[in-house]
Parts: sequence; structure tokens; C-alpha cells
Amino acid sequence: MKKIIGLLFIATFLVSCNSGKKENDPYSKATKEIVSKDHPGKKLMETNCYICHSATAGQNDRIGPPMIAIKKHYINSKTTKEEFTSAMQAWIKNPNEADAKMPGAVKQYGVMPKQYFPKETIAQISEYMFDFGIEQPEWFENHFNEERGNSKGIGNGQGKKLGMKQTKTNFEDLPYGERGLKYALATKAILGKNLMSSIQNKGVLEALAFCNEQAYPLTDSMSVVHNALIKRVSDKPRNPNNKANSEELEYINAFKKVVANNEEAIPIVKESEDQVRVYYPITTNTMCLQCHGKPNETLNETTLVKIKNLYPTDKAIGYTINEVRGIWSITYDK
Ligand code: HEC
Ligand code: HEC
Repeated sequence: MKKIIGLLFIATFLVSCNSGKKENDPYSKATKEIVSKDHPGKKLMETNCYICHSATAGQNDRIGPPMIAIKKHYINSKTTKEEFTSAMQAWIKNPNEADAKMPGAVKQYGVMPKQYFPKETIAQISEYMFDFGIEQPEWFENHFNEERGNSKGIGNGQGKKLGMKQTKTNFEDLPYGERGLKYALATKAILGKNLMSSIQNKGVLEALAFCNEQAYPLTDSMSVVHNALIKRVSDKPRNPNNKANSEELEYINAFKKVVANNEEAIPIVKESEDQVRVYYPITTNTMCLQCHGKPNETLNETTLVKIKNLYPTDKAIGYTINEVRGIWSITYDK
């Protein structure tokens, strides 16, 4: 066993850049937490949006505003669920500065990268956000009240209570697939935050240097924190160390079909006697195309030259949005 763990450790060093019920329903109060936990929109939101909109990232450590801020800017006492849902669908379809209801957030973080999400996914997330209190960071209440100059918003308190519960979730208690997914999403959030802030503050070339030098140690430190082997692998790798093996290629192809069908991907879980392996797709959004897009369209010449310089065998270009760039391949002991 010790040997295996040792090997995993070494392997980690070698791989990757890394890298509804309503309020007034008398029954809903008592069952609220159970119902909200079971609502499919909750998980969909955590999986698809929390990388950038999490409630738990610190104020100086964020990629985007927390979901509760979005909720408060999109819903007032007169907004219906239908209106909210269509406003969300419209934003996701075409995030742009002119339509943003949160100009402060655009200034702070840049416009949300465009990424494809199934319509049904956004409908479920919207319903969940509308019907339930959602997690809220500790600092948020004061910040929001300062910004708005008032003292009462919607969802006060209740979301915070749910949030406290959620942040205490122990990964080890989760079903295998979800546990692997949490490792992937936590790593993605760290990489994403660093990547987006380097691009924004220093430009694409500096960000490229960042990914070349830092994405790997960051992914590695996440492996250590979670005591799991966390890798990103691809059928068209930039770094040859991230090349998918034949089994992983099979899963990449399976996920390509899911994504092409505009379906929500669920993790693939494989168990052996004492280990669990979890696979989950990594898809592209507009931001990725600056380094993985089509030459002279989304990927400019200067960036391409630098990429070729750093990675003479690079295969990771030519992508558009909502394509499978690779997969998370996560291994942990039972
Ligand atoms: C600033 C440039 C840059 C941006 C933007 C960028 N990447 Fe990369 N990406 C890289 C570099 C450089 C590597 C190789 C890192 C290494 O040496 O391990 C890489 C590697 C990867 C890998 C590991 C597999 C491989 O090809 O080596 C995946 C998966 C990946 N990127 C996905 C994405 C996704 C998804 C996005 C958008 C969310 C994105 N990247 C945005 C530069 C970038
Ligand atoms: C890669 C990071 C990222 C992901 C993933 C992401 N967002 Fe965003 N989003 C942002 C950023 C940054 C902003 C703030 C700037 C802005 O408003 O465009 C934002 C703003 C928003 C806004 C407010 C827009 C406005 O200004 O009116 C909505 C609504 C939103 N996101 C919904 C979602 C939903 C729903 C998901 C998940 C399905 C999601 N986002 C996933 C980065 C992201």
C-alpha cells in the first residue's frame, strides 16, 4: 500500500499542467432543507457555476460575484420565476457588457466568458435560485447593504444558514463519483482563478507563462491537500505528459458524444479493489480560445509563436467553445 501511495506521489509530479415548493406552503418550512438539497438545480449550480460564483471563496480570491449577489440583482419583490428564468437564459446565451445588470462586477472581473450550458440546466438552476435560499458568504450582507444603501434584501439569513451546513460537507462522506467531482472542481477553481486574473491583469502572454510554470505545481498541491491523484489529460495534449492513455481516450470519446448532444455530463466512476477512479470532461469557453483556439481567429500570432516555442509538439489548438478539451482523471484510495 505504501508503495502505491509513493508511486501515486511520483506520478503526480510527472503529469499535467497542469493546471419546488414555495415559501408559503405550510409543509415547506420543515422540509425545506431536504427539499432544497434534493432539488437538481442545486447540484447543477455547484457543478457548473461555482467555479466562478462560489459562496465560499474570499472576497479577494474570486473569479466572479457570488450567486447570492446575482440573485439580488436579478430578483426584486415583483419578479416572477418565469421572468427570472428567461433573464438567466438570455444572459447565458449571450453574456455581454451592454446587457449586464452588474456593471460593477464586469469592471471587477471582466465580462463572464461565454460557455454553452443546456437550456434545461439553466432552467433548473433558475428554479432552485428563485425558490430557495442559497449560500451566502460571510462578508456579503454588509457589502450588499453598503452598496444598495438599504438594509433588507431577499433571502437574508436563510441562505447563510444553508451555506454554513454546505461548507462543512466532508468530501470523504460523499458517493464516489461526487467526491471525485469535488476534487476536480476545487482544482479547476484554483487554476481558473489564477488564469483569469493573470489574463486580466497581465495579458495572455504572461498568463501563458503562468500556465507553463505554475499550473502544474498548483494541481500538484491540490493532489496533496486531497490525498488523491489529480490529473488533466487530453487526446490533443499541449504538454506531452498530459497525453490520455487508451482507457482515458475511450472516456474522452464518450464525453464528446454527451457534449455534442447538449446533455449534462455526469462523472464516470470505475472501482478496483482498493481504489476509485473518476473521470469528468473539461470543456472550452471563450476564455480558453485565446490559447487553444483557431490560429488568426481567436488565437493570435504572437501567442501561437510563444506556444510553439514552449511546446514544439503542441496539439491543443483549433478549438471552438463547448468542445471537450480533455478530462479530469482522478484516483483515490477507498
Ligand atoms: C493563457 C493561455 C491558456 C489559456 C487561456 C488556457 N490554457 Fe489550457 N493550457 C495552457 C498551457 C500552456 C498548457 C500546458 C501546461 C503544461 O505544461 O502542463 C495548457 C494545458 C491544458 C490542459 C492539459 C492538457 C494539455 O493539453 O496539456 C487542459 C485540459 C487545458 N489546458 C484546458 C484549458 C481550458 C478548458 C481552458 C479554458 C477554461 C484553458 N485551458 C485556457 C494555456 C492556456
Ligand atoms: C468561468 C467563470 C464563470 C462561470 C463558470 C460562470 N460565470 Fe457567471 N459570471 C462570471 C463573471 C466573471 C461574472 C461577472 C461579470 C459579468 O456580469 O459579466 C458573471 C456574471 C453572471 C451573471 C450576472 C450578469 C450581469 O451582469 O447581469 C449571471 C446571471 C451569471 N453570471 C450566471 C451564471 C450561471 C447561471 C452560471 C452557471 C451555469 C455561470 N454564471 C457560470 C463568470 C462565470
